[in-house]
Amino acid sequence: MPRTDPILSRRSIRRFTHEKVDEAQVRALLSAGMCAPSADDERPWHFVVVTDPSIRLTLSQVSAYTYVVKDSPVAILVCGDESLQKQHGCWMLDCSAATENILLEANLIGLGAVWLGIYPVEGRIQKVRLVTGAPQHVVPFSIVAVGHPAERKYPISRYDECRVHYEQWKKSQG
Ligand SMILES: Cc1cc2nc3c(=O)[nH]c(=O)nc-3n(C[C@H](O)[C@H](O)[C@H](O)COP(=O)(O)O)c2cc1C
Repeated sequence: MPRTDPILSRRSIRRFTHEKVDEAQVRALLSAGMCAPSADDERPWHFVVVTDPSIRLTLSQVSAYTYVVKDSPVAILVCGDESLQKQHGCWMLDCSAATENILLEANLIGLGAVWLGIYPVEGRIQKVRLVTGAPQHVVPFSIVAVGHPAERKYPISRYDECRVHYEQWKKSQG
């Protein structure tokens, strides 16, 4: 695997330096998110860019697993807009693709990032909606904490031949 492969080298980064993420980098992350595939090309998403430390502090308390965002210079909240979808029930799939695209772009441009899950946990959704003022038809989906990495993680190969099926599922395979 080439060391620079942005997909195979992606890891969750949860520690960041104080260095600022500049506007061009934020724009690159948003472009990558909006470049994701979506059902019927509906693009039923919104992105909230949060740098304000007090808002990040509140977001960090949304769940036991969002603490990272307290110290990440930027948080990008990915939201699904139910009023923009005709393909019923696909917005969360589209938002997943957008979230992953942001993670990959971050890795490609030398930043670190981690996906913090909001949807489908109702309590987290309500808390994030309250913090951001998102309207009822907009569902907070994920938060991507982004910054310059203060930890280094090496790529892991997770290729698992047991999960691969050629042509058909064989009886011997679980
Ligand atoms: C749907 C989803 C929700 C996640 N939520 C969190 C989270 O709330 N907090 C966190 O620190 N990491 C979260 N992660 C990151 C995973 O823990 C991480 O991807 C996994 O442990 C594999 O490690 P890697 O990303 O370094 O390969 C989430 C990932 C996904 C896909």
